[in-house]
Amino acid sequence: MVVAVQQAHAYADVLSMAGLRREHLICPVFVSERQQDDGGDAIAAMPGVSISSLKDAVLSVQRISDAGIRSIIVFGIPKSRDGDGSAAADRNGVVQHATREIKSAFGRSLDVITDVCVCQYNLSGHCGLVRNSGTVDNDSTLQVLAEISQSHAEAGADVVAPSAMMDGQVRAIRDALDRGSYAATRILSYSAKHASSLYTPFRSAAFAKKKGAIDKAGYQVSYANPRQAMREIAGDIEEGADMVMVKPGLAYLDLVRRAKERFSVPIAVQNVSGEYAMIKAAGMRGWIDEEQWKVTSLAAMRRAGADRIISYFALDVVQYLQ
Ligand code: PBG
Ligand code: ZN
Repeated sequence: MVVAVQQAHAYADVLSMAGLRREHLICPVFVSERQQDDGGDAIAAMPGVSISSLKDAVLSVQRISDAGIRSIIVFGIPKSRDGDGSAAADRNGVVQHATREIKSAFGRSLDVITDVCVCQYNLSGHCGLVRNSGTVDNDSTLQVLAEISQSHAEAGADVVAPSAMMDGQVRAIRDALDRGSYAATRILSYSAKHASSLYTPFRSAAFAKKKGAIDKAGYQVSYANPRQAMREIAGDIEEGADMVMVKPGLAYLDLVRRAKERFSVPIAVQNVSGEYAMIKAAGMRGWIDEEQWKVTSLAAMRRAGADRIISYFALDVVQYLQ
């Protein structure tokens, strides 16, 4: 994307008005150990976002680091899946392996955050263990999430980010990390994660089940219940979360603002795959000005009060920042 100098100045002004700086950005990194993904596969509904193979992971992160971004979040795509998603806790699994290599290459200059869940690793796409009755078993999932978190911490993750929305997950993870002598490993909880079709492009890239909706309304927050979103955040802080998240971004920024005013921990927001897809799809048709909307949406998130912004646009927008 070539942007006229004057236009680039205008974007820089919008972003500086909002107070967005490089240290607020977290860049997502997909790492896959599946053979067919080797060579940097593209994701159909996320043009411009690629999946790294394990051997290219450090190289992908180098580009991010060179651009001046100091945090990444790693999403793993495993080579094999089973009913319970047991590969998620494998000490040699895709995220653990990538994290070890990335940390050994970048050390303290880069914060590595890891997404902690089972849905990429199982067959159902649900964020917990599924009983025979078809329901997700909250309590037996806690132990699994704790083991996954320990294995990520052992690999060198600076921050673990549980995204399963199981009740009690932050406490279970905090206890397990402390017991495993990973007291320094921080927790970024996906606290107010709303049930949304805006995760579809992500799921089509990362899940076993490529087609059809997966109904997570049983454990993710409803748009109609903003007070529950605030209770989830308060509960996670109580359980020991160091940072909390509101997700998706654009239609939920009032919650970011409320959380910022109410709580003292850093507030993160995730600009999700469907938000990316909407802007890209319209932009590629010339129906909207894509560059302007990348910039405006990230500025909006910062203006609402977000201290950290996870966005697939991070690498595009960082060029306008100091
Ligand atoms: C895994 C996870 C998901 C996302 C982040 N972590 C998918 C889901 O919950 O179904 C979505 C991210 C995105 O859409 O960009 N629990
Ligand atoms: Zn999940």
